[in-house]
Amino acid sequence: MAIISSKQPAANAEQPPKEKKKKSPKSVPQPANPTQLASVVEPEILQAETNNPEEKIQEESLRPSSLQEYIGQKDLKGVLDIAIQAAKVRQESLDHLLLYGPPGLGKTTLALILATEMGVNCKITAAPALQGPRDILGILMRLQPGDILFIDEIHRLPRITEEILYPAMEDFRLDITQGKEATAKIRSIPLPKFTLVGATTKVGSLTSPLRDRFGLVQKLRFYEVDELTLIVQRTAEILHTAITPEGAAEIARRARGTPRIANRLLKRVRDYAQVKACDLIDAEIASTAMEIYNVDPLGLDWVDRLLLTTMAEQFNGGPVGLEALAASTGEDRQTIESVYEPYLLQIGYLHRTPRGRVVTAAARKHLGLKGANDGGEQLSLLEKG
Ligand SMILES: Nc1ncnc2c1ncn2[C@@H]1O[C@H](COP(=O)(O)OP(=O)(O)OP(=O)(O)O)[C@@H](O)[C@H]1O
Ligand SMILES: [Mg+2]
Repeated sequence: MAIISSKQPAANAEQPPKEKKKKSPKSVPQPANPTQLASVVEPEILQAETNNPEEKIQEESLRPSSLQEYIGQKDLKGVLDIAIQAAKVRQESLDHLLLYGPPGLGKTTLALILATEMGVNCKITAAPALQGPRDILGILMRLQPGDILFIDEIHRLPRITEEILYPAMEDFRLDITQGKEATAKIRSIPLPKFTLVGATTKVGSLTSPLRDRFGLVQKLRFYEVDELTLIVQRTAEILHTAITPEGAAEIARRARGTPRIANRLLKRVRDYAQVKACDLIDAEIASTAMEIYNVDPLGLDWVDRLLLTTMAEQFNGGPVGLEALAASTGEDRQTIESVYEPYLLQIGYLHRTPRGRVVTAAARKHLGLKGANDGGEQLSLLEKG
């Protein structure tokens, strides 16, 4: 499988709305000896999104290369397996596929696996690199029959690029307008049959004409602890690091349902084991290392704890609106909604009600806050009412 990448954003690329980011991981001191290690606090260690070029390069070597090697996402794998087999029997290209879900769950990895399984090339690009018509035309006209075109962050495509994609996806043709106004003519150019794989963390931001042109629309879900344990064990093997199943589970429990975070935590634990001259990472080593990095046993960081504590103590458990929560914690509204909330909802520490967010009894218990039952009672009252 040849992978051709053109992910550099165009010079005039539209920038995404600025989210409040934590400090860049580049400024984090890397542990060189045990005394230094004790002072390491890595602010982005639990962020699923990555903007760190070094981490992106390292991720390439950790990607599973076949569906069989890809851990978890059982339902999704089943759907894709059938689609691949059917396309192969019919000797056709795969249906266009839209993958959506939070960052770091394996969307890019799956697109590359599809190309390998189908034995075709994968051309990788991202919406910020496709701002002008020429960008997308150039890519489409160079596609070979059966190729996969992977467009990351597809919700950020400009309207003009989307409109070029509509006939390309539906009828495998390009409609090019020549001349101006009254004398303008549309020339159609046939394209080889290809598969568009789109990935997005914000499926709600896609226009419906674009979404409707995908034959398969599939969601990636957060991983279970046992699945993440297998991912940690697999990564440890690739990194030649010895780890017990219990050590892998300790890391998996803190990985917020996300393989990217699991792999990152493993690397930090490996640093710790190395400076402590431990040949084998067990549960104790893993949990002591995670404590040093300020990662709590459920993978919550200080912002998660601040959000929950503020809701419990200042808003009496909720319901509290996003604006009020943002104002009280000093965190950006969008960051709360897209970075912190999904995992807190997933583990049942937060509920969304029509009147706002409610902190649950489980969260109060975890944080050792008073009134461990209030959140649950309030929620059930709200749900009844
Ligand atoms: N099911 C899986 N099994 C093993 N490793 C996985 C799995 N899913 C993801 N990973 C690993 O997690 C890392 C992140 O995966 P990937 O880059 O595919 O995520 P993504 O969904 O494309 O994220 P983003 O939204 O930020 O682009 C990769 O290094 C990959 O190897
Ligand atoms: Mg990706």
